[in-house]
Amino acid sequence: MAKTVSVALIGQGFMGRTHSNAWGQVPKFFKPPRMPVMHTVAGLPEEDPGAFAKQWGWQNASTDWKSLVKCEEIDLVDVVTPNYMHAPVAEAALAAGKSCSCEKPISSTLKGAREMAQAAKQAKVKTFVWYNYRRCPAVALAHQLVKQGRIGKVRHVRAVYLQDWAGESVPLVWRFDKKLAGSGSLGDLAAHIIDMTRFVTGAEITEVSGAITETFIKQRALPTGMAGGKIADSGGKASAAKMGKVTVDDAVLFLARFAGGAVASFEAARQATGNQNRNGFEINGTKGSLRFNFERMNELEFYDAAADRAVQGWAPIMVTHGGDHPYVDAWWPDAHIIGYEHGFTNMAYDILRVLAGQKPIVPIPDFQDAYQTQRVLEAVSLSAKNRCPIKLSEVK
Ligand SMILES: NC(=O)c1ccc[n+]([C@@H]2O[C@H](COP(=O)([O-])OP(=O)(O)OC[C@H]3O[C@@H](n4cnc5c(N)ncnc54)[C@H](O)[C@@H]3O)[C@@H](O)[C@H]2O)c1
Repeated sequence: MAKTVSVALIGQGFMGRTHSNAWGQVPKFFKPPRMPVMHTVAGLPEEDPGAFAKQWGWQNASTDWKSLVKCEEIDLVDVVTPNYMHAPVAEAALAAGKSCSCEKPISSTLKGAREMAQAAKQAKVKTFVWYNYRRCPAVALAHQLVKQGRIGKVRHVRAVYLQDWAGESVPLVWRFDKKLAGSGSLGDLAAHIIDMTRFVTGAEITEVSGAITETFIKQRALPTGMAGGKIADSGGKASAAKMGKVTVDDAVLFLARFAGGAVASFEAARQATGNQNRNGFEINGTKGSLRFNFERMNELEFYDAAADRAVQGWAPIMVTHGGDHPYVDAWWPDAHIIGYEHGFTNMAYDILRVLAGQKPIVPIPDFQDAYQTQRVLEAVSLSAKNRCPIKLSEVK
C-alpha cells in the first residue's frame, strides 16, 4: 500500500463530524505510519455535502456512495450511516477491494453482521468497527491492568450506559425505527458496554438471561428535517399533525455470564433522567476492582486489595501521564485533560497503524470481533422476547 490512505466517508451527521475531526487531527498530534488523505465525503443532497466538505477539509463531495466506494483512488471506506446501511455499503466496499471501517453496531441485524464478517474474511482486507470507547485512555488502561493480573480473577461485571435525551418532544428519527436501527438502547448503548466489558475483561459472554426491554413512549411525531449532527433533535422540529409508531426499546436490562466464571449485569436507557452520558463499568476481581464512568472520562478508579488493609480504598487515577498511560503522550502536557473527540482520533491512529502492518496500541475490533458483540445483542433480544436464558452457542 502507498504511504497514504485515501479515505471516503459515507455519511455526514453526528459521527460524520467526529470522524472528519479525527482524520483531520490525527497527523497533527500523532506520527502515523500512513498519512490519511481526506478524499471524499458522501451525504444526502439535502445535507449539502459540498458545504460539509469545505468546513471539515474533505477534498471532494458526493451524493453517490455507490460509485464512490468503487473509485480506484480510495483505499478506505469509512461508514457512518444509520445502522441498516452498514451492510450494503461495507459489502460494496469490500467487494471493490477496499478496507472498511464501520460505525457500531456493525449492523442492524445478526444476518447483516454475519454477512459482513464473512465478506471481510473473503476479501482479505482490513476491517474495523468504531467501538471508540476502547480508546479512552482510562478504558485502555483498565484493559492493560486486567491483562497484567492487577485485579486477579474477574468475579463481577456491572455495566451501565444511561442517557436522558429521549423525552416526548424528540421526533421519530431513525434511532426509533427498528427497520433502520435494528434496536433502540440495546444496539445504540448496550452494544458499547458489551464491547467495552469484553475488551476490558478479555473474556467472551457465554450466556444471557433475564433480559427485559421497555418502550415508554410508543408514538412520536414524524420528523421534518435532518438531525444536523445532533443525536436526535432532527432540526429541533417535529410536525404536530403526524405521529408514527416507535418500534424499538427505550430501555434494556439483562444478566450475563462470562467465560472464566464472572457474572454480570447490564443496563442501558435513553430516559434515565439526570444521566447524560453515564457509560461505564465496575469490575470486581479477587485482587482488586476497577470503575469507570465516561462522564469523568479522564479518571479510572482502582481498588487495590493487595495494599495494606489500613490504606485500602478506591483511588481515582487521573489517566493523563504520558508514557504511563496509553495514547496520552500524543496530546497535551501531563494532566491537561482530553475529551470525547480524542477517542476517535486515537482510533484513526490505530487504524493507520494496522493498515501499515503495525499493531494497534490496544486491540481494535474488526468485523469478526464486532460480530461477537452483535451475537450478544441477538441473545438479549431473544431472552427478552422468549423470557428465557439464551446460551451464546445457540446464536450463530
Ligand atoms: N461510536 C459512537 O459512540 C456513536 C455515537 C453515535 C452514533 N454512532 C453510530 O454512527 C452511525 C451514524 O449515527 P449518527 O449519529 O451519525 O447519525 P446521524 O443521523 O447524525 O447521521 C447519519 C448520516 O447518514 C447519512 N446517510 C443517511 N442515508 C444516506 C444515504 N442514503 N446516502 C448517503 N448518506 C446517507 C447522512 O449523511 C446522515 O447525516 C450509526 O450507526 C450509529 O449507531 C456511534
